[in-house]
Parts: sequence; structure tokens; C-alpha cells
Amino acid sequence: MDYAAMVAALDWQLELGAVDALAEAPVDRTQLPEKQPPVEDWLRQGGDSGPVSQPAQSNGQGHGQRKRPAATAPAGAGAPALVAAESAADPVADAQRAAEAAGDLTALQAALADYPHCGLRHGARNLVFADGRADARVMILGEAPGADEDRLGKPFVGRAGQLLDKMLEAVALRRDADAPEAAVYLTNVLPWRPPQNRDPSPDEIAMLKPFAARHVSLVKPDVLLLMGNIACQAMLGRKGITRLRGNWAEVHGIPTLPMFHPSYLLRNPAMKRHAWADLLALKARLGSG
Ligand code: URA
Repeated sequence: MDYAAMVAALDWQLELGAVDALAEAPVDRTQLPEKQPPVEDWLRQGGDSGPVSQPAQSNGQGHGQRKRPAATAPAGAGAPALVAAESAADPVADAQRAAEAAGDLTALQAALADYPHCGLRHGARNLVFADGRADARVMILGEAPGADEDRLGKPFVGRAGQLLDKMLEAVALRRDADAPEAAVYLTNVLPWRPPQNRDPSPDEIAMLKPFAARHVSLVKPDVLLLMGNIACQAMLGRKGITRLRGNWAEVHGIPTLPMFHPSYLLRNPAMKRHAWADLLALKARLGSG
């Protein structure tokens, strides 16, 4: 292969979202023996049968997702019918059913891990569920994991997350606080990293929104913070964060404050003064309730 062909092959991989090196040496997967997934796993992909396995942690923190087999049909009679049934399913209706059926955060995390319709799961290393205290007074909803979050399985641990931690500390809130009054709980609309951190598509938001909404109603915080446009689009059905920020709204009866996303603040430091005003409004609200 000549230099130009190698660069073109690399460009093609970047376009597909293959942006992280997973191992020291490349693996030629065309030479690996084909492994057929167990049929039982395929039966469970419809999302409505089989036992729900327990996630590793029960305190609402993120953990690694169980990897699913690639979408190739298993051998044996009946498999094509299963594949057809899955592609004919309504991803949003399935998400609503699965999310509503989850009676607690552990079940919600398991329901997401079993949800087959979002293609992002296949490119992500981890399902990033949540971090912080589930009994915190303040819940923070972001957009989606980035590279650091995908690697570590926790939301808001990269540069934007570090800025967010500093902002919260300025009003005496922490994800690892000893008491719920001083704690935050963090999650995202999307639990899987979009390739190259692209914006989530409207379809992806629509199918993952029922899980995010259920997440909010299970945590039942005193205040919900929506970080940026995607969180506002999912929870309020509205975009335009410059206008929305600082204006209290309601989600499932919970006082909700849209704020600039910390990634935006990293790119636009002059906007931090608005974030500070919003944090003071949050503090006043917590003090009064
Ligand atoms: N941005 C988000 O919206 N969420 C994260 O978890 C990290 C960055």
C-alpha cells in the first residue's frame, strides 16, 4: 500500500468514528474464526423477554456495558424472523416501555444495557450511566459522554467535567459530598459516546429521552440542571440555550434550570459570568426550599 492509500484508509476510519487506538497492534478481524452469538442473547434483544441481569453497582454509578454481538444473523431456523422483528420494532415505543418498567436506578441501568436500538452502543467502550449521590438535592443532566467519560465509564470526568466540578465547588456542591444537601448526581441524555463527539441525531435523542426522563423521575431531585441545548431539547422540547439559560422551568414538577454547558464555557470564557449568575440562582433556590 502506498502513502496516499494509507492516508486515505486512515481518513476513512476517522470518518467512521474509529478515533481511539484500542490495542498496541492491529487485529485483522477478517482472519478471525467467526463466532456465533448464543441464540438466547438474540432472543433478549427484542427487549421484552428474559431475565434482566443486575448491573455491577447499585448506587447509580457508571460501569462497563456488557458488549453485544455484532448484528449478524445467527445460524438456525427462526433467526431471520427475529432480525425482522427487531428492525420492525418502534425504538421510541420500546424505550418508553423499558424505561417505565424500571422500578429503580439499578433496573434502569440494566434496561439501558439491554436496549438494542441505539447504534451508538456498538462504538462505545462503556455505558456511562451516572455518578454522584442518587439522593442528592441537585441532579445535573448533560449531553453525552466524551472520550474520557467513555474510557472511564463515568460522566463529566474530562475537561468540561473538571470545570463543572470547580463551578459546583464555588457554591459548596460536590459529587462526592458526605451529605445529600451538599451533593450532586450527574448523568447524560445519551449513555454512549457519539463517534468523534458529533451531535446526537434527533432519532438518537428521541429514543434515549424516555430513559433520561425516567432517570429524573426516579432520582426526584429538588432541582434539575440542564446543561446545554441537547439536555434542553430532550427535557423541555426546546433549543436556544442563550435564551433559555437562567430561566426556571419545570420537568415532572421539578424546578429546572437550563445553563450553558461547561464545554461551551471552555470555548467562551466570557460567558462564565452568566453561569455564575445561574449558580447563585440555584443556591438561592436550594436555600429557600
Ligand atoms: N459533556 C457532557 O455533556 N457529558 C459528559 O459526561 C461529558 C461531557
